[in-house]
Amino acid sequence: MWRAQGAGTVRVMKNSWMREAERRALGRSVLLALLALGLAAGEARGDVGIDARRAEELVRLVRQDCGSCHGMTLKGGLGPPLTPEALRDKPASSLVATVLMGRPGTPMPPWQRFLTPAEAEWIVERLQVGFPPQ
Ligand code: HEC
Repeated sequence: MWRAQGAGTVRVMKNSWMREAERRALGRSVLLALLALGLAAGEARGDVGIDARRAEELVRLVRQDCGSCHGMTLKGGLGPPLTPEALRDKPASSLVATVLMGRPGTPMPPWQRFLTPAEAEWIVERLQVGFPPQ
């Protein structure tokens, strides 16, 4: 009788410990799933791998190198304006392709040697809403 009770108590304790562990594991995997979703969303926004320092470099690149053709204020020069008014309604994906591959037969050069696709996306996304000052 005592033995049976003892074994039962141990089993109950073991069961609730297992349930606790399962709950924690579930909590962890929900957390991981949320994290993965967050990362995927970041990727869709083109934010992945662009830290504050790289962002600063990209702003300088656009203001100076792109600005040499598109105007220091990006309102146009040899190249067309890169303002939100000019770009807002154009599909981001084709603008990203233009930045990476240039426009053959025009002075717009390809930038894929200097920019990753995520960085080109990051730039286009900001051009479409108003590019940050240097
Ligand atoms: C040597 C001059 C030059 C430089 C430097 C340059 N561009 Fe261009 N860009 C042009 C020209 C010219 C066009 C227009 C091409 C055409 O006629 O379709 C253009 C087109 C574009 C377009 C398409 C605009 C639209 O309304 O469809 C985007 C976006 C763009 N450039 C972004 C950039 C970015 C970002 C940089 C810097 C990373 C850059 N350009 C650097 C000359 C330049």
